[in-house]
Amino acid sequence: MTEVVLPTVADTYAFGRRLAGLLRAGDLVLLTGPLGAGKTALTRGIGSGLGVLGDITSPTFVIARVHRADPAGGRGVALVHADAYRLGDAGDPRAEIDDLDLDASVDESVTVVEWGEGLVEQLADAHLRIRLHRHDDDTRTVELEPVGGDWAERLAALG
Ligand SMILES: Nc1ncnc2c1ncn2[C@@H]1O[C@H](COP(=O)(O)OP(=O)(O)O)[C@@H](O)[C@H]1O
Ligand SMILES: [Mg+2]
Repeated sequence: MTEVVLPTVADTYAFGRRLAGLLRAGDLVLLTGPLGAGKTALTRGIGSGLGVLGDITSPTFVIARVHRADPAGGRGVALVHADAYRLGDAGDPRAEIDDLDLDASVDESVTVVEWGEGLVEQLADAHLRIRLHRHDDDTRTVELEPVGGDWAERLAALG
């Protein structure tokens, strides 16, 4: 378990950009934490680091949104940004997102799901779980938990 302190929203954005360096097509990242914790803010940094198109906003009123890879630069991988409240509490968000028939497949995208708390405990598929905590002084901390796959090795590379 890695813990990182994020004093300001700019730090959260910068951390997301750094995290994007670890990410590749087919990945699933689950962001947990209460409303206002910074899940969307962190996703903005990830999107910037991947170099995808379009403003990243809360997906609350859609199930999922695809941000295409910028053909003029970036990493050539799309970002699928989803809100778990819209997905229901099925066991495998990637399968459910694939069923939406978006204009992108999860195998060719990085999928980031804003998950809320307490929904995800039994998800078996390899993923990176990121818990955001908001403190009384308005700073945030994130805990990174590797679940399966090669996430532990990849997190070690984050330093
Ligand atoms: N260190 C921080 N990290 C992330 N957001 C922060 C931080 N400090 C203040 N904020 C503010 O908190 C809010 C987080 O909102 P958002 O990212 O939409 O949360 P969530 O998606 O978890 O509901 C934003 O208004 C952001 O500017
Ligand atoms: Mg949000």
